Amino acid sequence: MRTPVIAGNWKMNMHKRQALELVQGLHYGLTWPGEVDVIVAPPFTALDTVVEFCAKSYISVAGQNMHWEESGAFTGEISPSFLKDAGADYILIGHSERRKYFGETNEIVNKKIKAAFQHNLIPIVCFGETLEERERGDFVRVIEQQILQGLTGLTHEEGSELIIAYEPVWAIGTGKTATPTQAEEAHAFIRAHLFQLFSPDVADAVRILYGGSVKPKNSRELLSQKNIDGALVGGAALKAEDFIGIIKSANA
Ligand code: 13P
Repeated sequence: MRTPVIAGNWKMNMHKRQALELVQGLHYGLTWPGEVDVIVAPPFTALDTVVEFCAKSYISVAGQNMHWEESGAFTGEISPSFLKDAGADYILIGHSERRKYFGETNEIVNKKIKAAFQHNLIPIVCFGETLEERERGDFVRVIEQQILQGLTGLTHEEGSELIIAYEPVWAIGTGKTATPTQAEEAHAFIRAHLFQLFSPDVADAVRILYGGSVKPKNSRELLSQKNIDGALVGGAALKAEDFIGIIKSANA
């Protein structure tokens, strides 16, 4: 039985004060989430504030991005050990916005995943196809490459600790959610690849989250699918009430 994960990706939003109010709203609005792992990914500047408050809460903290190197002349970058030092336990890797705007390739994603494991950060690795790729019928090939190139060279132990997020790019911030059937099909496909790449045990252990316009009104149906083990939430993670609604639906 996989414990569901509900993760909020705040993207480039939330000044420190707003960030504190949001985690306070989550913590006091829902005193216990039940058997659900709850994660928030604030911007770097709010990490300290959020980590300090979340130390007394059930909420865990993730970074949104990092470099794979340990330290050095990489102006503007943050290393895995800096994130660990700031109190993060998880790291988002390969979000489609990183791939689209900052040129992240599957090879870079792979380096980052390995660096994360070396520093005891659990990677939440994002995969997903664009609308053009889906319409061209390239969905299978694109996702397959993201999986094979992104996850190459990991040990079975690392494989089983991974969290994967399937985020069809056409569903992000558009209000167009994948239907539960479309999402389940993609998740089952990803799990079948984990089976081949690692083992049946790894395929069984990995939590695969769905992301793309998840809201309290559609989360329950998405989360009731066999291979959907949680959600990576953007817009609806910025309001405590909405995020709590999604967490509750994971418990239902
Ligand atoms: P939205 O929930 O705003 O569509 O964003 C999804 C996302 O990109 C989470 O990483």
